[in-house]
Amino acid sequence: MSTDDTTETAEASTETDAAAKADTESNCGGSTDAESNCGGSTDSESNCGGSTDEEEVGASADDFDAEPGTLVTVGLGPGKPEGMTARAKGALANADHIVGYRTYVDLLPDEITADAEDIYSTPMCGEVSRTEEAIDRTLAGNDVAIIGSGDPNVYALSGLALEILESKGGSAEAVDFEVVPGVPAAQSCGARLGAPLVNDTVSVSLSDHLTPMEDIESRLEAVAPEGFTIAIYNPWSRKRRENFQTCCEILLAHRDPGTPVGIVHGASRDDEATMITDLGTLPDLGEEEIIDMTTTIIVGNEDTYVWEDRMVTPRGYETKYDY
Ligand SMILES: C[S@@+](CC[C@H](N)C(=O)[O-])C[C@H]1O[C@@H](n2cnc3c(N)ncnc32)[C@H](O)[C@@H]1O
Repeated sequence: MSTDDTTETAEASTETDAAAKADTESNCGGSTDAESNCGGSTDSESNCGGSTDEEEVGASADDFDAEPGTLVTVGLGPGKPEGMTARAKGALANADHIVGYRTYVDLLPDEITADAEDIYSTPMCGEVSRTEEAIDRTLAGNDVAIIGSGDPNVYALSGLALEILESKGGSAEAVDFEVVPGVPAAQSCGARLGAPLVNDTVSVSLSDHLTPMEDIESRLEAVAPEGFTIAIYNPWSRKRRENFQTCCEILLAHRDPGTPVGIVHGASRDDEATMITDLGTLPDLGEEEIIDMTTTIIVGNEDTYVWEDRMVTPRGYETKYDY
Protein backbone atom coordinates (compact mmCIF):
# COMPACT_ATOMS: atom_id res chain seq x y z
CA MET A 1 0.00 0.00 0.00
CA SER A 2 2.43 2.67 0.98
CA THR A 3 5.99 2.98 -0.17
CA ASP A 4 7.32 5.27 2.43
CA ASP A 5 10.33 3.61 3.69
CA THR A 6 13.88 2.72 3.40
CA THR A 7 15.13 -0.65 4.21
CA GLU A 8 17.61 -0.55 6.95
CA THR A 9 15.84 1.94 9.11
CA ALA A 10 13.41 -0.77 9.84
CA GLU A 11 15.80 -3.44 10.79
CA ALA A 12 18.30 -1.31 12.60
CA SER A 13 16.62 -1.10 15.93
CA THR A 14 18.91 -3.63 17.48
CA GLU A 15 21.92 -1.53 16.65
CA THR A 16 22.89 1.64 18.36
CA ASP A 17 22.26 4.99 16.76
CA ALA A 18 25.64 5.05 15.14
CA ALA A 19 25.64 6.68 11.75
CA ALA A 20 26.83 5.04 8.61
CA LYS A 21 29.35 7.58 7.52
CA ALA A 22 31.07 7.13 4.27
CA ASP A 23 33.45 9.95 4.44
CA THR A 24 36.74 9.25 2.79
CA GLU A 25 37.94 9.17 -0.74
CA SER A 26 37.61 6.61 -3.40
CA ASN A 27 37.87 6.51 -7.13
CA CYS A 28 34.54 4.77 -7.47
CA GLY A 29 36.52 1.78 -8.40
CA GLY A 30 36.42 -0.39 -5.38
CA SER A 31 37.84 0.18 -2.02
CA THR A 32 37.21 -0.73 1.53
CA ASP A 33 34.16 -1.43 3.54
CA ALA A 34 32.21 1.75 4.14
CA GLU A 35 35.08 4.05 3.41
CA SER A 36 34.27 5.45 0.08
CA ASN A 37 32.25 8.29 -1.20
CA CYS A 38 32.10 8.48 -4.92
CA GLY A 39 29.16 10.70 -4.60
CA GLY A 40 29.58 13.52 -2.31
CA SER A 41 26.30 13.47 -0.67
CA THR A 42 26.76 14.49 2.88
CA ASP A 43 25.02 11.80 4.72
CA SER A 44 24.38 13.23 8.08
CA GLU A 45 24.89 11.55 11.37
CA SER A 46 21.24 11.01 11.73
CA ASN A 47 19.85 8.22 13.80
CA CYS A 48 17.38 7.39 11.06
CA GLY A 49 14.85 8.76 13.44
CA GLY A 50 14.35 11.66 11.21
CA SER A 51 15.71 14.93 12.40
CA THR A 52 18.54 16.38 10.36
CA ASP A 53 19.30 13.91 7.67
CA GLU A 54 18.98 16.05 4.60
CA GLU A 55 21.29 14.88 1.92
CA GLU A 56 22.38 16.42 -1.29
CA VAL A 57 23.32 14.54 -4.37
CA GLY A 58 26.91 15.22 -5.37
CA ALA A 59 28.43 14.37 -8.73
CA SER A 60 26.24 14.52 -11.81
CA ALA A 61 26.22 11.99 -14.64
CA ASP A 62 28.24 14.41 -16.77
CA ASP A 63 31.13 14.24 -14.31
CA PHE A 64 31.89 10.68 -15.41
CA ASP A 65 33.75 9.92 -18.62
CA ALA A 66 33.39 6.15 -18.53
CA GLU A 67 30.82 4.03 -20.29
CA PRO A 68 28.33 3.31 -17.47
CA GLY A 69 28.11 -0.16 -16.02
CA THR A 70 24.88 -1.89 -15.09
CA LEU A 71 22.84 -1.18 -11.98
CA VAL A 72 20.59 -3.79 -10.39
CA THR A 73 18.60 -3.66 -7.19
CA VAL A 74 18.43 -7.17 -5.84
CA GLY A 75 16.00 -8.58 -3.31
CA LEU A 76 17.57 -11.23 -1.11
CA GLY A 77 14.31 -12.61 0.25
CA PRO A 78 13.80 -12.98 3.98
CA GLY A 79 17.17 -14.20 5.17
CA LYS A 80 19.12 -17.33 4.44
CA PRO A 81 20.53 -18.03 0.98
CA GLU A 82 18.05 -20.82 0.27
CA GLY A 83 15.32 -18.17 0.22
CA MET A 84 17.04 -16.23 -2.57
CA THR A 85 15.89 -16.69 -6.12
CA ALA A 86 18.27 -18.15 -8.67
CA ARG A 87 17.93 -14.90 -10.60
CA ALA A 88 19.04 -12.90 -7.58
CA LYS A 89 22.06 -15.13 -7.09
CA GLY A 90 22.89 -14.78 -10.76
CA ALA A 91 22.61 -10.99 -10.65
CA LEU A 92 24.91 -10.85 -7.65
CA ALA A 93 27.40 -13.19 -9.26
CA ASN A 94 27.50 -10.84 -12.27
CA ALA A 95 28.04 -7.70 -10.21
CA ASP A 96 31.50 -6.23 -9.76
CA HIS A 97 30.43 -4.25 -6.72
CA ILE A 98 27.80 -5.08 -4.12
CA VAL A 99 26.41 -2.25 -2.03
CA GLY A 100 24.22 -2.67 1.05
CA TYR A 101 23.43 -2.36 4.67
CA ARG A 102 25.78 -4.58 6.68
CA THR A 103 23.03 -6.87 7.95
CA TYR A 104 22.13 -7.68 4.36
CA VAL A 105 25.74 -8.21 3.33
CA ASP A 106 25.97 -10.69 6.20
CA LEU A 107 23.07 -12.60 4.65
CA LEU A 108 24.90 -13.13 1.35
CA PRO A 109 26.12 -16.60 0.45
CA ASP A 110 29.88 -16.98 0.97
CA GLU A 111 30.53 -17.67 -2.69
CA ILE A 112 28.96 -14.35 -3.65
CA THR A 113 31.02 -12.31 -1.22
CA ALA A 114 34.17 -14.21 -2.13
CA ASP A 115 33.73 -13.50 -5.83
CA ALA A 116 32.74 -9.83 -5.63
CA GLU A 117 35.41 -7.38 -6.62
CA ASP A 118 34.28 -5.00 -3.89
CA ILE A 119 31.63 -4.89 -1.21
CA TYR A 120 30.57 -1.52 0.12
CA SER A 121 28.59 -1.87 3.30
CA THR A 122 27.53 0.51 6.00
CA PRO A 123 26.24 -0.28 9.48
CA MET A 124 22.84 1.37 9.32
CA CYS A 125 21.03 4.41 7.97
CA GLY A 126 22.83 6.34 5.25
CA GLU A 127 20.60 4.87 2.60
CA VAL A 128 20.73 7.96 0.41
CA SER A 129 24.51 8.30 0.40
CA ARG A 130 24.92 4.57 -0.04
CA THR A 131 22.53 4.50 -2.97
CA GLU A 132 24.33 7.44 -4.49
CA GLU A 133 27.60 5.64 -3.98
CA ALA A 134 26.18 2.70 -5.92
CA ILE A 135 25.05 4.96 -8.73
CA ASP A 136 28.36 6.77 -8.96
CA ARG A 137 30.20 3.48 -9.11
CA THR A 138 27.89 2.49 -11.95
CA LEU A 139 28.46 5.76 -13.76
CA ALA A 140 32.19 5.19 -13.32
CA GLY A 141 31.87 1.99 -15.35
CA ASN A 142 31.29 -0.76 -12.78
CA ASP A 143 28.49 -3.31 -12.71
CA VAL A 144 26.82 -2.68 -9.39
CA ALA A 145 24.19 -4.44 -7.29
CA ILE A 146 22.31 -2.74 -4.48
CA ILE A 147 21.00 -5.36 -2.08
CA GLY A 148 18.15 -5.38 0.40
CA SER A 149 15.99 -7.86 2.24
CA GLY A 150 12.78 -9.15 0.74
CA ASP A 151 11.87 -7.40 -2.48
CA PRO A 152 13.55 -4.19 -3.70
CA ASN A 153 10.17 -2.63 -4.48
CA VAL A 154 8.67 -3.17 -1.02
CA TYR A 155 9.65 -0.34 1.35
CA ALA A 156 13.07 -0.51 -0.25
CA LEU A 157 15.60 1.23 -2.43
CA SER A 158 14.61 0.67 -6.07
CA GLY A 159 12.65 3.90 -6.20
CA LEU A 160 15.38 5.88 -4.48
CA ALA A 161 17.93 4.55 -6.97
CA LEU A 162 15.87 5.76 -9.92
CA GLU A 163 15.16 9.09 -8.23
CA ILE A 164 18.85 9.75 -7.60
CA LEU A 165 19.83 8.59 -11.07
CA GLU A 166 17.30 11.01 -12.53
CA SER A 167 18.49 13.85 -10.30
CA LYS A 168 22.02 13.30 -11.51
CA GLY A 169 20.92 13.64 -15.11
CA GLY A 170 21.58 9.95 -15.72
CA SER A 171 19.37 7.55 -17.59
CA ALA A 172 17.99 4.18 -16.56
CA GLU A 173 18.56 2.93 -20.08
CA ALA A 174 22.19 4.03 -20.16
CA VAL A 175 23.00 2.21 -16.94
CA ASP A 176 20.77 -0.72 -17.92
CA PHE A 177 18.87 -0.43 -14.66
CA GLU A 178 17.04 -3.55 -13.54
CA VAL A 179 15.07 -4.68 -10.51
CA VAL A 180 15.59 -8.28 -9.48
CA PRO A 181 12.67 -9.28 -7.27
CA GLY A 182 12.89 -11.19 -4.03
CA VAL A 183 10.33 -12.80 -1.75
CA PRO A 184 8.81 -10.01 0.36
CA ALA A 185 8.52 -10.37 4.13
CA ALA A 186 4.73 -10.52 4.05
CA GLN A 187 4.86 -13.58 1.81
CA SER A 188 7.70 -15.26 3.73
CA CYS A 189 5.94 -14.64 7.01
CA GLY A 190 2.56 -15.63 5.61
CA ALA A 191 4.07 -18.94 4.59
CA ARG A 192 5.29 -19.52 8.14
CA LEU A 193 1.78 -18.95 9.47
CA GLY A 194 -0.16 -21.17 7.09
CA ALA A 195 -2.31 -19.50 4.45
CA PRO A 196 -3.34 -16.08 5.77
CA LEU A 197 -2.82 -14.02 2.59
CA VAL A 198 -4.94 -15.94 0.16
CA ASN A 199 -7.42 -13.11 -0.42
CA ASP A 200 -7.04 -9.32 -0.83
CA THR A 201 -4.16 -8.02 1.25
CA VAL A 202 -2.63 -4.61 1.94
CA SER A 203 0.68 -3.70 3.55
CA VAL A 204 1.11 -0.84 5.97
CA SER A 205 4.43 0.30 7.41
CA LEU A 206 4.37 1.83 10.89
CA SER A 207 7.70 3.56 10.37
CA ASP A 208 7.28 7.31 10.57
CA HIS A 209 10.84 7.95 9.42
CA LEU A 210 9.63 9.15 6.04
CA THR A 211 5.84 9.15 6.38
CA PRO A 212 4.14 11.28 9.04
CA MET A 213 2.30 9.23 11.62
CA GLU A 214 -0.95 11.02 10.85
CA ASP A 215 -0.77 9.69 7.29
CA ILE A 216 -0.10 6.20 8.57
CA GLU A 217 -3.09 6.51 10.87
CA SER A 218 -5.28 7.65 7.96
CA ARG A 219 -4.21 4.67 5.91
CA LEU A 220 -4.95 2.29 8.75
CA GLU A 221 -8.31 3.95 9.29
CA ALA A 222 -9.06 3.45 5.60
CA VAL A 223 -8.15 -0.22 5.40
CA ALA A 224 -9.12 -1.49 8.86
CA PRO A 225 -12.89 -1.51 8.19
CA GLU A 226 -12.47 -3.21 4.81
CA GLY A 227 -12.09 -6.90 4.15
CA PHE A 228 -8.35 -6.93 3.69
CA THR A 229 -5.81 -9.07 5.40
CA ILE A 230 -3.28 -6.51 6.64
CA ALA A 231 0.48 -7.07 6.68
CA ILE A 232 2.11 -4.68 9.11
CA TYR A 233 5.74 -3.89 8.46
CA ASN A 234 8.10 -2.06 10.83
CA PRO A 235 5.74 -2.68 13.73
CA TRP A 236 7.75 -1.63 16.74
CA SER A 237 10.97 -0.02 17.90
CA ARG A 238 11.96 1.70 21.09
CA LYS A 239 11.15 5.02 19.44
CA ARG A 240 7.92 3.77 17.92
CA ARG A 241 6.14 2.14 20.80
CA GLU A 242 3.28 4.60 20.42
CA ASN A 243 2.87 3.85 16.72
CA PHE A 244 2.31 0.21 17.56
CA GLN A 245 -0.26 1.02 20.23
CA THR A 246 -2.04 3.48 17.93
CA CYS A 247 -2.17 0.85 15.22
CA CYS A 248 -3.71 -1.67 17.64
CA GLU A 249 -6.31 0.88 18.76
CA ILE A 250 -7.33 1.63 15.17
CA LEU A 251 -7.58 -2.03 14.26
CA LEU A 252 -9.58 -2.83 17.39
CA ALA A 253 -11.97 0.01 16.66
CA HIS A 254 -12.93 -1.73 13.42
CA ARG A 255 -12.28 -5.43 13.89
CA ASP A 256 -13.38 -8.11 16.30
CA PRO A 257 -10.89 -8.73 19.14
CA GLY A 258 -11.02 -12.40 18.19
CA THR A 259 -9.57 -11.70 14.73
CA PRO A 260 -6.60 -14.03 14.22
CA VAL A 261 -3.20 -12.34 14.15
CA GLY A 262 0.06 -13.96 13.10
CA ILE A 263 3.41 -12.65 14.27
CA VAL A 264 6.67 -13.69 12.61
CA HIS A 265 10.01 -12.44 13.83
CA GLY A 266 13.09 -12.99 11.68
CA ALA A 267 11.59 -15.32 9.09
CA SER A 268 14.31 -17.54 7.67
CA ARG A 269 16.89 -16.18 10.07
CA ASP A 270 18.58 -17.83 13.03
CA ASP A 271 16.30 -16.10 15.54
CA GLU A 272 13.05 -16.89 13.78
CA ALA A 273 9.99 -17.00 16.06
CA THR A 274 6.33 -17.39 15.24
CA MET A 275 3.13 -16.82 17.21
CA ILE A 276 -0.56 -16.96 16.36
CA THR A 277 -2.75 -14.90 18.65
CA ASP A 278 -5.74 -12.60 18.34
CA LEU A 279 -6.25 -8.90 17.89
CA GLY A 280 -7.45 -8.37 21.43
CA THR A 281 -4.15 -9.72 22.78
CA LEU A 282 -1.90 -7.86 20.34
CA PRO A 283 -1.58 -4.58 22.31
CA ASP A 284 -0.09 -6.51 25.26
CA LEU A 285 2.64 -8.00 23.07
CA GLY A 286 4.36 -4.77 22.06
CA GLU A 287 7.04 -5.14 24.69
CA GLU A 288 7.61 -8.83 23.99
CA GLU A 289 10.77 -9.89 22.19
CA ILE A 290 8.90 -11.34 19.27
CA ILE A 291 7.80 -7.89 18.09
CA ASP A 292 10.50 -5.57 16.89
CA MET A 293 11.70 -4.14 13.59
CA THR A 294 12.48 -7.56 12.15
CA THR A 295 8.90 -8.65 12.67
CA THR A 296 5.94 -8.70 10.33
CA ILE A 297 2.45 -8.94 11.77
CA ILE A 298 -0.42 -10.31 9.74
CA VAL A 299 -3.92 -9.36 10.81
CA GLY A 300 -6.60 -11.58 9.39
CA ASN A 301 -9.81 -10.43 7.75
CA GLU A 302 -13.30 -11.26 8.99
CA ASP A 303 -13.14 -14.72 7.41
CA THR A 304 -9.69 -15.70 8.66
CA TYR A 305 -9.65 -18.56 11.14
CA VAL A 306 -7.11 -20.77 12.88
CA TRP A 307 -7.02 -24.49 12.17
CA GLU A 308 -4.36 -26.69 13.75
CA ASP A 309 -2.06 -23.76 14.50
CA ARG A 310 -2.35 -22.44 10.98
CA MET A 311 -4.02 -19.22 9.90
CA VAL A 312 -6.41 -19.75 7.01
CA THR A 313 -8.00 -16.98 4.97
CA PRO A 314 -10.54 -18.55 2.62
CA ARG A 315 -10.37 -17.45 -0.98
CA GLY A 316 -14.09 -17.97 -1.39
CA TYR A 317 -14.15 -21.43 -2.97
CA GLU A 318 -16.47 -22.60 -0.21
CA THR A 319 -19.18 -20.29 -1.53
CA LYS A 320 -19.16 -22.04 -4.92
CA TYR A 321 -18.09 -25.59 -4.29
CA ASP A 322 -18.91 -28.37 -1.86
CA TYR A 323 -15.88 -29.88 -0.14
C1 LIG B 1 11.91 -1.50 5.39
S1 LIG B 1 11.06 -2.98 5.33
C2 LIG B 1 11.85 -3.87 4.04
C3 LIG B 1 10.92 -4.85 3.44
C4 LIG B 1 11.57 -5.73 2.41
N1 LIG B 1 12.00 -4.97 1.26
C5 LIG B 1 10.62 -6.84 1.98
O1 LIG B 1 10.26 -6.90 0.80
O2 LIG B 1 10.29 -7.65 2.83
C6 LIG B 1 11.68 -3.83 6.74
C7 LIG B 1 10.56 -4.59 7.40
O3 LIG B 1 10.33 -5.78 6.68
C8 LIG B 1 9.92 -6.78 7.56
N2 LIG B 1 10.90 -7.89 7.47
C9 LIG B 1 12.03 -7.91 6.74
N3 LIG B 1 12.65 -9.09 6.86
C10 LIG B 1 11.88 -9.83 7.68
C11 LIG B 1 11.99 -11.16 8.18
N4 LIG B 1 13.01 -11.94 7.85
N5 LIG B 1 11.02 -11.61 9.00
C12 LIG B 1 9.97 -10.82 9.34
N6 LIG B 1 9.81 -9.58 8.89
C13 LIG B 1 10.76 -9.08 8.08
C14 LIG B 1 9.87 -6.18 8.96
O4 LIG B 1 8.56 -5.70 9.17
C15 LIG B 1 10.82 -5.03 8.81
O5 LIG B 1 10.55 -4.02 9.75
